[in-house]
Amino acid sequence: MATKTVFVFVLLCLCYFQIVTGVSEREVTDMLLKDYQKEGRPVRDPTQAVETSLDVFLIQIVKLITQRQVLVINFWLVHRWKDDFLTWNPAEYGNISSIRIGSENIWRPRLVNYNREHEEGWSETPDTNAIVRSDGEVLWNYPITIHSTCVMDIARFPFDVQKCPLKIGSWTYDSSKLKIVNRSETGDTNQFIENAEWKLLSFDLEVNHVEYSCCPGVLWDDMTYTIVIQRRSTFFVLYTVMPCAILAFMAVCGFWLPPDSGERMFICINAFLSMIVLEQVANKHLPDTATTIPLINIFMGVSILLVFASSALTILTLSLLFKTFDLQPVPKWLRRIFCLGSPDPNIIRLAPKVSPKKVDANVLEVTELEDLDASFATDRAKATSQLVRRARKVLLQLKKEYEMMSRYEKIQKEWKIVAGKIDRCILIAFFIALVVISGAIFGPSG
Ligand SMILES: *[C@@H]1O[C@H](CO)[C@@H](O)[C@H](O)[C@H]1NC(C)=O
Ligand SMILES: *[C@@H]1O[C@H](CO)[C@@H](O)[C@H](O)[C@H]1NC(C)=O
Repeated sequence: MATKTVFVFVLLCLCYFQIVTGVSEREVTDMLLKDYQKEGRPVRDPTQAVETSLDVFLIQIVKLITQRQVLVINFWLVHRWKDDFLTWNPAEYGNISSIRIGSENIWRPRLVNYNREHEEGWSETPDTNAIVRSDGEVLWNYPITIHSTCVMDIARFPFDVQKCPLKIGSWTYDSSKLKIVNRSETGDTNQFIENAEWKLLSFDLEVNHVEYSCCPGVLWDDMTYTIVIQRRSTFFVLYTVMPCAILAFMAVCGFWLPPDSGERMFICINAFLSMIVLEQVANKHLPDTATTIPLINIFMGVSILLVFASSALTILTLSLLFKTFDLQPVPKWLRRIFCLGSPDPNIIRLAPKVSPKKVDANVLEVTELEDLDASFATDRAKATSQLVRRARKVLLQLKKEYEMMSRYEKIQKEWKIVAGKIDRCILIAFFIALVVISGAIFGPSG
């Protein structure tokens, strides 16, 4: 009997608690959504605007697609607004102060990114749960990947800083219907995951009220976040700028080689080809644009020009060096420029202009000899003298040729000195040019 009483008592107690705590979240949800119309704005007074606050947490910069000029970013978006039709008295509903409802079942502000770039669908707002408080405050957040257009300024590539705006606002509600407010002065970057290629400089926001040409007198609210990122240029400096500079210096230093070694042309052409390959590699990271020429391309273009000029000048010095036809002595003006001093008298004496006289003299000498030989009038003597005459002729010819040869050699030696001096001048000039150009291009950016 006693056990029965206890059993009934326990049962009664359970029933009592069931009645008192009987309100489950499901019942609250049922009660809230029973006559809920999710299309109308959640204000009892239609003249009032719904005030929505938006917080944007920048989580990650996935990448900047340079060819399409699109920034891919991961965000957490946090919306807060007040829904007049989602209220209840917690005391009546088992002290339940907040519930989670699938956000697709209630009214949502549906803010969109104005400068988005996406092929599929218009709205990618996910149907995550919203947290509804008993006083009607709704908190709705979700993670999202946004493809946002970002016009790149590549003039200072690879030391460029990009400013990418992200304009978020309502597409249909103007500010008299939906007011967008900020709860902080800047975007939130506490959860930010560093990017290997880009360094985040700032993530500021601006609340705008814009009048569009479609609807005069009507203002539209939007929140424009500006992501300022700076490229980490080390990669490009190491793999494109530095090799390019080294190649240019190498091509210039080729002028240190003796001009007749022939290696210089080889160095120049190799540097030329390598630079073109490097430029192709660098261009892969740049958008196809012709409005601005990036710094790196200017540097490479100048380097290529420099290498081209050094190959052309190599050809010039080589041609001076191996000047074999029409060998003229070094002209006076060149001597003066390179301080060669007065020319060898031998060269002047044997200059081609005076050679006809010399030939005459030779002829004279030969006739004199003939006169001398005439005194030996015997046949044997005649034969001997003929032999001697021939020998002398040959000897004279040889002497003439030898003199010509030595003259040629001397002139060639002088040209070689001139070529060497020209090389030194080019070396110094190009070296200075290269340093000045590199300084001018990369100096101010640091
Ligand atoms: C609700 O909270 C109030 C005050 O905190 C408390 O007195 C009451 O017993 C609670 N009701 C339930 C059903 O828990
Ligand atoms: C909202 O942003 C503006 C700048 O657009 C700023 O001046 C203001 O202080 C911000 N509001 C809050 C609550 O931080």
